[in-house]
Amino acid sequence: MALQNDLILRAARGEKVERVPVWLMRQAGRILPEYRAVREKLSGFRELVMTPDLAAEVTIQPVDILGVDAAIIFSDILVIPEAMGLPYEMQENRGPFFPKTIENDRDIAALLGAEAAHELEYVYEAIRVTKKNLNGRVPLIGFAGAPWTIFAYMIEGQGSKTFSKAKRFLYTEPEKSKLILNKITDATIAYLKGQVAAGADMLQVFDSWANILSPEQYNEFSLVYIERICNELNHIVPLTVFAKGAFSARAPFAKMKCDVIGLDWTMDAVESREIIGSSKTLQGNLDPCALYQNKSGIELEVKKMLDAFGTQRYIANLGHGLYPDTDRYMVKAFVDAIKEYKA
Ligand code: CP3
Repeated sequence: MALQNDLILRAARGEKVERVPVWLMRQAGRILPEYRAVREKLSGFRELVMTPDLAAEVTIQPVDILGVDAAIIFSDILVIPEAMGLPYEMQENRGPFFPKTIENDRDIAALLGAEAAHELEYVYEAIRVTKKNLNGRVPLIGFAGAPWTIFAYMIEGQGSKTFSKAKRFLYTEPEKSKLILNKITDATIAYLKGQVAAGADMLQVFDSWANILSPEQYNEFSLVYIERICNELNHIVPLTVFAKGAFSARAPFAKMKCDVIGLDWTMDAVESREIIGSSKTLQGNLDPCALYQNKSGIELEVKKMLDAFGTQRYIANLGHGLYPDTDRYMVKAFVDAIKEYKA
């Protein structure tokens, strides 16, 4: 199925685009009443993720309602720990919780590696259904968590401001940490390849907890594993790496086999371009809170952002996921402002 709108793929590959492509991290979700209506029919988030027809439906909602230039498969980064042997629960208003975490060597040995990807047939099926129903309107993005962020949840067992339990493990058991990180990396590579085989047109790796490691630790416990993912995927489809708050990662990312580098709103556009050079596409980076403004405020932010990034080798997005209390009309205003931008 030929794509009618391939702006984001061309921007990712560094080809010329007639306008800046736009999508939003967490574009499918609670900001849309249409999403909440589907979600209420089910007992919870996990059920939605595991029901391909409904996951496909909520994946496509933002394309219809917001007019974004890409869909991202409705799923979660936590399906990998689950497939490896640590099931997650999604607790209302509290977030993820793992009844079982990694405590000893037996737990580490029991974790599945690459074979975990076989447990995720429901995601591949959701991708196939989505691709069929999108009917070539826009590309579909697949995704996974970066190994460090997945490790952080697997050790901590839940969200945390400091992830001090996970960091304690890095400091006290560095070799065991690497054993686990390598298994997660094996699972993630097989999973991302499975998503591409099912039809994903592009991929993104989310390192949401990058910001809590020192640059040295980040090199040792995150970058090497992201690099292995980039090497294994080897540009089969465009790949985005997004490491929130990882200032030190920008220069090394520029040398990896990724196509796009995601930036958060604390990173300056011009400075990032200088550090990264011209061989990668940049993605980002409006503060999600900027969408609490009115329409003209948002239009001004968009103008400043696109003036700074330029219109080529750039994909407009937020600097992190959309917050659930954002007014969807202001999200639409953001998307429209990008589409209407004139340099
Ligand atoms: O629209 C999209 O972006 C696609 C779907 C998507 C979800 N999670 C759905 C979701 C994506 C890409 C993710 C990635 C994800 N999940 C990340 C990386 C991105 C980031 O935000 O840093 C992380 C860290 C997670 C783990 C996770 N999932 C947390 C911490 C939470 C709870 C916080 C919250 O927002 O409620 C989730 C739940 C979650 N994942 C929801 C959605 C739509 C909300 C739950 C619901 O709707 O019931």
